[in-house]
Amino acid sequence: FAPYTLLIQHAAQVLTLAGGPPDRPLAGPDLSSWTIIEQGYVACVDDKIVAVGRMSKLNLAHLGPDTRLIDASGCVVMPGLVECHTHLVFGGNRADEFERKLRGESYLDILAGGGGILSTVRATRAASEAELLAHSLHHLKGFRRYGVTTLEAKSGYGLDRDTELRLVRVAREAGQQQAVRVVPTFLGAHVVPPEFKEAGPRTYVDFILREVLSDLKGEAAFVDIFCEDGAFPLDVSRYYLEQAHKMGFGLKIHAEQLHDLGGCEMAAELGATSIDHCDYLMPDAAARIAQQTAGRTVAVLLPLVPLFLRQQKFADGREFIDSGLPVAVSTDFNPGSCPSKNLWLALSVACLKMGLTAKEAVAAVTLNAAWAIAQQHDCGSLEPGKRADVLVLNVSSVAEVPYWLGENPVRDVVIGGALIA
Ligand code: NIG
Ligand code: FE
Repeated sequence: FAPYTLLIQHAAQVLTLAGGPPDRPLAGPDLSSWTIIEQGYVACVDDKIVAVGRMSKLNLAHLGPDTRLIDASGCVVMPGLVECHTHLVFGGNRADEFERKLRGESYLDILAGGGGILSTVRATRAASEAELLAHSLHHLKGFRRYGVTTLEAKSGYGLDRDTELRLVRVAREAGQQQAVRVVPTFLGAHVVPPEFKEAGPRTYVDFILREVLSDLKGEAAFVDIFCEDGAFPLDVSRYYLEQAHKMGFGLKIHAEQLHDLGGCEMAAELGATSIDHCDYLMPDAAARIAQQTAGRTVAVLLPLVPLFLRQQKFADGREFIDSGLPVAVSTDFNPGSCPSKNLWLALSVACLKMGLTAKEAVAAVTLNAAWAIAQQHDCGSLEPGKRADVLVLNVSSVAEVPYWLGENPVRDVVIGGALIA
C-alpha cells in the first residue's frame, strides 16, 4: 500500500456526509442522518481520500516520513464547499442600482427600464477577455478563502454568439489557472437582448439553438434559462429546454424567483438536474416534483437573493425537505441579486429564513450541491475514492457552523490533496 501523503488528525468532529443512499441526493430524513465522527481523521494519498475514521482506529503503519500532518484538534473537518450556482463572469458592477433599490425601485422594474441584467450585459460586452478573466480569478480567490473547492459558473451577460462563447471560455480558463474546479453552464437564455427585442423570446432562443449550442458541446454540460416575467415565458422555456435536452445537455432553470409560473415543475418533468430559486414554488408542487422525479431533481435555494432584493418571500425549504424534495443552498453570486460570495452566510440565512437545521444546511452546501451539478462522484463528501477537498474549520461542532452569522469559519483549505496557502 502507498503511505498517506496527508493526514488531517484529532478533529473534534469529522462531518463525513457519508451514510445516505449512494444513488440519489439526500432528501427527507437522510438530509440530516449522515455520519459525524467524533475525534476523527481524514487520510489522503495524492489527490484522493483513502480513509476516514476515528483516531482510535488509525493505522500508524500507513504513516511514512513524507506524510504531511495537519492537527485539527478542537476543529470541525468537513468536505470542501460546493458552490452550485454562480454568475462568475461579468463586467462592471451595479452599486448604483443598489441605491435605487434602497429608495424602493424593484428588480423587475429596473430590468424593464433597460437596466439590471441588461446594464451588466453592456459592461460585459465592453470588457476584454483578459479583463473578464482577471475579474473571475479575483472572485475565485475570494470563494477559495471561504472554502469553496468546486464552483458552477454561468454565462449569460453576453447574449450574442461571440460574447456568450467568450464567457464560457473564460470560466473554463479560470478553472484551469487556479485550484478551485469550475463547472461551466450556458445561460445564453438569461433575458432577451436588445437586438431581439422586436422579434421576441422565441426567435431569440431559436437563434441560440441554431447558432450557439452546437459550439458548446463538451464546453458546458448544462443549459439554463431564466423563466420569469420580463425574461422567458413558460412555453418558450419548455421548448428551449426540450431542444437543448435533445442536443445532449443537462438542464437547469431559474424559476419561481418572483412569480409562480410553473417553471420548476415543467423543468423537473423534462429531467432537470436542478431547479433554482424556488421562492414562489408552492409546497404541493414541490411534493409532486419530489414524487415524479423520485427525488433526483435538486431544488437549489438562494437565500441571499430575497434578502438582497428586499423581498419578504423566501423558499419554504422546511416544507420542501419534509415532502422529500432534495435541497441545495448557494449564493447565486452575481452583480445584481447577490454580490456576496459568502456561502456560510447563505447557509445561516437558509436556517433562519427557510427552516433548515444545521446538519441539513451543511448537506445542502456539500453533497446535495454536488448532485445539483452532477459532480457527486467526485466531491461533496469525505469518502474513500473522492477527491481530497477538505476544510478545517475554527469551530468545534456542526451546531456552530450556521451560528457565527456572517463569519468565515475556514482555517485550512485542501484541494486535491494540496494545502492551499
Ligand atoms: O439568478 N434571476 C436571474 N438571474 C440572476 C441575477 C442576474 C442579475 O441580476 O444580474 C439571478 O438572480
Ligand atoms: Fe442565478
